[in-house]
Parts: sequence; C-alpha cells; structure tokens
Amino acid sequence: MAEAKKFRAIKGVRDILPPESALWNRVEQTARDVFATFGFQEIRLPIFEQTELFARSVGVNTDIVGKEMYSFADRDDTSISLRPEATASVVRAYIEHGMHSRPGDVKLYYMGPMFRRERPQKGRYRQFYQIGAEVLGQSDQPAIDAEVLEMLMVYLERLGLVGAKLHLNSIGCQECRPKYVEKLREALLEVINELGADSQRRIETNPLRVLDSKTPDEQAIIEKLPRIGDHLCASCRDHFAQVQQQLKQRGIAYEINWRLVRGLDYYMRTTFEITAPGLGAQNAICGGGRYDGLVELLGGPPTKGIGFAIGTDRLVLALQEVGAGDVKAEVRKDVTVPVTGVVLKAEVGRVKVEVGIDVFVAWMGAASQPAAVKIVRKLREAGLSVEVPAEEMKFKKSIGLAAKLGARFALIIGENELKEGKYALKRLADGHQESLSEADLLAQLKAAQA
Ligand code: HAM
Repeated sequence: MAEAKKFRAIKGVRDILPPESALWNRVEQTARDVFATFGFQEIRLPIFEQTELFARSVGVNTDIVGKEMYSFADRDDTSISLRPEATASVVRAYIEHGMHSRPGDVKLYYMGPMFRRERPQKGRYRQFYQIGAEVLGQSDQPAIDAEVLEMLMVYLERLGLVGAKLHLNSIGCQECRPKYVEKLREALLEVINELGADSQRRIETNPLRVLDSKTPDEQAIIEKLPRIGDHLCASCRDHFAQVQQQLKQRGIAYEINWRLVRGLDYYMRTTFEITAPGLGAQNAICGGGRYDGLVELLGGPPTKGIGFAIGTDRLVLALQEVGAGDVKAEVRKDVTVPVTGVVLKAEVGRVKVEVGIDVFVAWMGAASQPAAVKIVRKLREAGLSVEVPAEEMKFKKSIGLAAKLGARFALIIGENELKEGKYALKRLADGHQESLSEADLLAQLKAAQA
C-alpha cells in the first residue's frame, strides 16, 4: 500500500499548542481587562478586505503592500487581500457605520491573525497575531497620545514584562515633513556612493526608510544626516513637547529615537515602538502612532486618530524570555473577581444591551488635570472603567457627555476639591453628590461595582 502523504503547516505558519496556548489566553484576557478600564470596546473585523483599502491607507510603495500581501482575484475578479494589519479595516468600519456620530472619542480594540509574506525567522511569521487599539475622534490633544501609551505600559506591566522600552518620535505633518524629506534626500544624494543598493533605491522611493537601515556600514553615515526633530513646524514641535510633558506627568519612561519612521504611510506626528529584551533582530513587540487624516483619505469626515498594534507572537516570546510566561498562572481561581469594570445592562427578551462606563472624570482648571490623571490611574487599577477628557470641558458639557456615555458616576475635580484634597462624587441616576477623601472614594466605588 502506498504511504499516505504527511501534511505540514505552510512555511511561516504555525500551530500554537497547549500548554503555550494557555499563556496566549492570559495575554489576550489581560488586554481585554486593562483596555476596558480605559473605556475601550472590542471590534471584530473581517480577515479579508478589498486590496485597494490597504493600498490606499498603508501605501502602495510600502513593503507591506508592494511585496508582502496575500492577494487573490475573487470569483467576480475583485482583488481581495488577507489583512496585513487592521488599522485600515477599523477606519473603513468607522466610516461605513457612521461611528463619528457616537458621543466622545471612539475607542476600539481588536485581536486576531494578520498575514504578511515575509522571510520567516524567530519572531517573524507569515501568519502572526496582533492585539491592537485605536482612538478616533475630533481631538488631537497630546493627552490622548499619552493616555494610549499609558494603557500600553500598564498592560505590559500587568503581564510581568520587564525591560520593555518605549521609543518615541514625531515625524511631523503635511506641512513640515515633505520639506524635511527633501533635505534628507539632498543629504543622501551627497553620500550615495557610500550606501548599499537598498538604501540607494530608497533615496528615490522613500528616503525616510533609509533611516531604518540595519546595515553596519551605513550607521555612521546615517548618524550625520539631518534629523526630523530639527525640522518640525511650530505646531508639530509644540504637540511633541506636550506629549512628552504628559508622559512625564504619568511617570512613563521613554527614549527619543529620531530614526523611528515606521513602515506604513498613514502616520503623522507621534510615532512609537516598544522593544523587549531577548528577542534578537525582531525585538519590536509593538508599533503605532497618530494618523490624523486617514479617515478623510478613505472618504470619511475630518477625524483624528491614534493607535497601536502589539505583535502577540513576540510578546509571548518576550514573556517567556523574562520568565513571566509561567502558564500555571493561567489556572484561574478568581472567577468571582469582576473581569472588567464595564457595566452591562441587558433587557432579556428585547435584546437591548447598554454598555456604559463606571466613572467619568470632570476636571476643571489646568491645575486639576495632573490630579485627575493620578486618581484615574488608581481607579483603573481597581478595575473600574474610567473616561477622562483630554481637554478641559465646561461642567455642563462634561455631565452631558458622562450621561451620553452611560457613566454611573461623575467625579468632579476643580479648584475647591484640589484645595481641600477631596473629590466630589455625583451619582448620575439620581444626582446624589458627596464630598469624599481618596480612600472613601475608592471604597465607595468598589462597593458600587460589586
Ligand atoms: P506594525 O509595526 O506593522 O504596525 O506591526 C505592529 C507589530 O506587529 C510589530 O511591532 C510586531 O510586533 C508585529 N508584527 C509585524 N509583522 C510581524 C510578523 N511578520 N511576524 C510577527 N509579528 C509581526 C501595524 O500593523 C499598525 N497597524 C499599528 C497601528 C495601529 N498603528 C496605528 N494603529
């Protein structure tokens, strides 16, 4: 009898087996828990989209779209691609469902497989997984950038990842970046003969990508090139300075990396990556940034956006490297502990589900913002889902937005409260309000949650 053919998984694609799958579950569940405390909700997206969606958003000249997508003609000849990333899909869904008319910023997270035909190696696969989050709305306040980064760092810390490093940059806007790119191109043309073939080609196609080069011989040359930080326009410079100030206020360590340009076309201003120790060449466990203008580019209303995606495969490897990948932690006995602070009201029979948040923080006066940021961190650590506006709002508008978001409580922080070291807590259902110390506040809110 002929021997039956033995099948193997396709190159660059792998199975995730137990017990490692338990660690994956812990990583994903912790993301759900932490992201919910920051007011994010899950969006489930399709695995494939029209090829043109990625071409227009990620960019036709990028490696991802130009060389790495799995594309095929559907039976009606439409070109379809397996998603190489999910920001484009989130933006498509945001526009398609008119989500801009929802109250406040739209905060979404997703997790699932992505596909890129790269050369497989440790930490680099052709089917890999991401956990991502996006904030879409009207504001580009630096506090939003800082809060997104705070959420990331809180998440990694909760998982027990030590040694993660946040690399930060601003790549400017439509106003200042083209001028900088021209300067960079001129500088590169002067040293063209000292560069390798790849970098020589990129001088024409995308000079910024030369800064990404890992070629040892090119490093000394790149160090002498003009830096984007010295060529930002006044408003980008100011935005970047405020992002940094907001990070310091939150106690988040970062390193400025002027060579961090990212390989996708939709970014502007803030860009960042997180690296982890022990992963070798593929040590970026997360990448992200601001993409104001992408919604418009895809036919939607003027909207600002920022987000990130964590490479789950690499995060899992990193946790194992630092000894935080113990899967025994996965055998959870804490089922009585609420998983998130999200309030769910379901009306059985009428299938009406109302999703709200626990606390909306109404802060008034610039001096109250740092105090708000501090107490919000503590409330979230206690498992409550908390929304805090990135910019100051009038009291009435704050309470109005809190109600629209389905908040159970408004926490009021103004000059008086700051002076007295107290917090005013207002129950939105009946308007009952009381003045509380921090300890009493935490105790009350925890009791209300149970
Ligand atoms: P990205 O930098 O292309 O950004 O990917 C994010 C992360 O996905 C990387 O830092 C890495 O950890 C992981 N990753 C990428 N390619 C592979 C691969 N072949 N194998 C294993 N892991 C990989 C984005 O995808 C953007 N959509 C992020 C974003 C969201 N920006 C704004 N919002």
